[in-house]
Amino acid sequence: MTDLISASGDLAAAEAAVLVVGVFSGEDAPEIPESAAGVDAAFGGRLARQLADLGNTGGASSLTRLPAPEGLAAGLVYAVGLGDAEDLDDETLRRAAGTAVRAAFGKDSVAIAFEGDPGATAVGAALGAYRFEGYKTDGGGDEPPAAVSVYGATEEALRKAAVLAESVALVKDWADAPANLLRPPTFAAEIRQAALDAGLEVEVLDAEALSAGGYGGVLAVGGGSAAEPRLVRLSYRPEGAAKHVALVGKGITFDSGGINVKPGAGMWDMKGDMAGAAAVVGATVAAAKLGLNVAVTCTVALAENMLSGSSYRPSDVLTIRNGMTVEILNTDAEGRLVLADAISRALEDEPDALYDVATLTGGQVIALGKRTMGLMGTDAETERLRRLGEETGEPGWAMPFPEDLVKLMESSIADVSQCATGLKRDGHMIQGGIFLSKFVPEDLPWAHLDIAGPADSDSAYGYISKGATGRPLRTLVALLEEFAA
Ligand code: BES
Ligand code: MN
Ligand code: ZN
Repeated sequence: MTDLISASGDLAAAEAAVLVVGVFSGEDAPEIPESAAGVDAAFGGRLARQLADLGNTGGASSLTRLPAPEGLAAGLVYAVGLGDAEDLDDETLRRAAGTAVRAAFGKDSVAIAFEGDPGATAVGAALGAYRFEGYKTDGGGDEPPAAVSVYGATEEALRKAAVLAESVALVKDWADAPANLLRPPTFAAEIRQAALDAGLEVEVLDAEALSAGGYGGVLAVGGGSAAEPRLVRLSYRPEGAAKHVALVGKGITFDSGGINVKPGAGMWDMKGDMAGAAAVVGATVAAAKLGLNVAVTCTVALAENMLSGSSYRPSDVLTIRNGMTVEILNTDAEGRLVLADAISRALEDEPDALYDVATLTGGQVIALGKRTMGLMGTDAETERLRRLGEETGEPGWAMPFPEDLVKLMESSIADVSQCATGLKRDGHMIQGGIFLSKFVPEDLPWAHLDIAGPADSDSAYGYISKGATGRPLRTLVALLEEFAA
C-alpha cells in the first residue's frame, strides 16, 4: 500500500521524485494558483506559457509532464488541469490526483499541492495508487509510488483516505480475481479473514446449514456447481450505536447463466458477478476501521451459477427462507433468488434500514450506461443515495415501479414469478427491483442498487483503474456516516 504523508509549506521544496501542481482553465494559457506559485517561480514564472505551448490550458484531468528546472529537488513536475476555478469540486480534485498518481507509477515518491479540500485530493491519490497484482510470472508492469505527500491534508483526512482506498482495493482484488481462484468456499474464507482483521464478528453458513435454514434460493442457484454455496454474515456492533443498518450483497462468483447458458462473448466478465457482495463487505470493514457509531450487519450470498445434472431448471418452484414460493423462468436471473434469501435473513435482525447491492441486470447498463447505478426502493432512500452518490463521484438514478411491470411479475402457481411473464424484456432492470420489493416490508427504509455497469470500467480514467471499480463502497460509507451522525 502506498504511504500517504501530510505535508505543508512550499511544494517547490519537496524532496519527491514528482511534484504535482493543479492549474485552472484559462483563455490562452492555464491559470497558476497560489499553491503552485513556488514551482512557477522555479520555472522563472514561465509555467503557464510552457503548459500552453504544450497544449495544456487547464482542462479537468489534462496532464502534462515537464522536466523539473534547476533548483528543485524533484526530477519531474506534473501539471494537472482542474478545470474552471469557480466550478472546482471534490470529484474534480479526486480525478486530477488519481490521474497524476497513475501517471507516476514506476516513480518512487510524489508530492501533490492543489487548491480546494486536501481530503478529496488524498482520496483520489490513494485510489489512483491501486494496482491489480495479476498473474504474470515476470511480475508485470510498474509499481505504484511508495509514498504520496498531500499538501494541507490533516492526519485524520489521510487516515480516512487510506481506509477507503484499502477497502476499495479489497473489493477490486476480489472482483477481478479469476473465477477458478475465487469460488464460494474460498471467497467465504477470504471474507472471514478480512472481517476478523477489522474486528468484526463472522458467521459462515455452509450447504448443510443452508438446507437446515431453508435457504431455497441460494441452494438452487449454487446447486449446479461442484463448489458449495455459502451465506456469510458480518456484524459490527459499536457500543452505544443508535441505528442498525443491514447491507446485503449478491455474490455470484461466476455466472454462466446455468441451464439458460449465456453466449460465449463477454462471459468472462461474469467473474465479477460478486461485486455487490464484495462492496458491502468492503463498506462494513471500512465502517469498523473508521469506528463509525452505527451498528451494521452485512449478509452476502455466495454461489456459483453453473450447468450440471444438479442445476435448477426453468419451471422449478423454490421456497425462499421467509417461506415465499418463486416460479423459475430463467436460470440466468439467479441474483434476485440469492438476494431474496439474504434479505429475508437480514430482516430477522430487525434493522432500521436495508440496502442491497448487486450486479443484477444487463438492463441497468442498457438504461443508464456504465457509470450510473440504478436505484430502486423507498423514495427517501433512493433520493439519499442519489445525493450521496453525486457527492462521492459514484452517481445513481432512481427508477419508478410502474403498475404494468408489477403486474407482469405475478405467477399463476407461486407467490411470485422470478421474471416477467413470457420473459418480456420491458423495463428489465425495474423487474429485478420489483421482484426484490416483495421480500421487503413496505414501511422499511430500503434501496436496491443495481451496479451491473458501474462495477467495472473498460478503461482507466481519473482515480479509476481498468477493471473492477469498487463501487459503490464510498457511497455506502457516506451512508453509514449519516446513520452514525
Ligand atoms: N449477472 C447478470 C447481470 C449482468 C449483466 C451483470 C451484464 C453485469 C453485466 C444477471 O445475473 C443476468 O444474467 N441477468 C439477466 C436476467 C434475465 C435472464 C432475466 C440479464 O440481465 O439479461
Ligand atoms: Mn445471470
Ligand atoms: Zn448474475
